[in-house]
Amino acid sequence: MSVKTLTIDGKMVTGVAGTSVFGAAWEAGIQIPRLCHIGGLSELGACRLCLVEIDERPRLQPACMTEVEEGMVVRTDSARLHAHRKLIVELLFAEGNHVCAVCVSNGHCELQDLATSLGIDHVRVSYQHPRRQVDASHPRFALDLNRCVFCRRCMRVCDEVEGAHTWDVAGRGASLRLIADLGQSWGSAESCTSCGKCVQVCPTGALFAKGSSVGEMTKNRAFLQYIVTARAQHQWIRK
Ligand code: SF4
Ligand code: SF4
Ligand code: FES
Repeated sequence: MSVKTLTIDGKMVTGVAGTSVFGAAWEAGIQIPRLCHIGGLSELGACRLCLVEIDERPRLQPACMTEVEEGMVVRTDSARLHAHRKLIVELLFAEGNHVCAVCVSNGHCELQDLATSLGIDHVRVSYQHPRRQVDASHPRFALDLNRCVFCRRCMRVCDEVEGAHTWDVAGRGASLRLIADLGQSWGSAESCTSCGKCVQVCPTGALFAKGSSVGEMTKNRAFLQYIVTARAQHQWIRK
């Protein structure tokens, strides 16, 4: 197992070959913004929020999809990256219907946290105001597609950890949407085990427990690391 040495934000870090730049940075205490990445699930490279600058590569690279290499010089924080991330988050706000003041995840939302950390106080592009559905057919949970950022964490946890593969996407471009099973309502999706893992990994208020009011929906991510550690090391350790 070879170990690579690289520099991230001027700090010497190491990572086992095959580790992503995101993973090596995380281990070194350097946090790179992300939405689609979540430790324990496969990488998707969908949100492009984790883009970083790497010497001798003219294009920005997604840290979650780029493997560490010997001698790599990475920057995770620059004016160019800040401008890029700011625009992505503004586009996400504009393409959905994010009305934080009446959202179950207000105050506990990764999209909102990103906007705050990037200093976003208004959106410079036109709001699309799409007409998206709310599915409240499940007895315990609900899906509000108006707040979905298509990170597909729910799909991956349902498929890779729960083994149910209830969630998928249908459509393209502006008509892209999350579907349960073959497109029926969530409550009638036979594959769903009602485990709630998708609800816990959703970064926004798109998936939530019924009965949650404004600001009440908090997510518990610890379960995922617990299961992943148990599978990898055959040990049921709670950290
Ligand atoms: S999901 Fe987050 S960003 Fe969207 S409305 Fe809710 S709190 Fe706001
Ligand atoms: S419902 Fe949540 S977890 Fe699933 S794709 Fe949308 S934002 Fe991501
Ligand atoms: S976190 Fe890397 S592309 Fe989304």
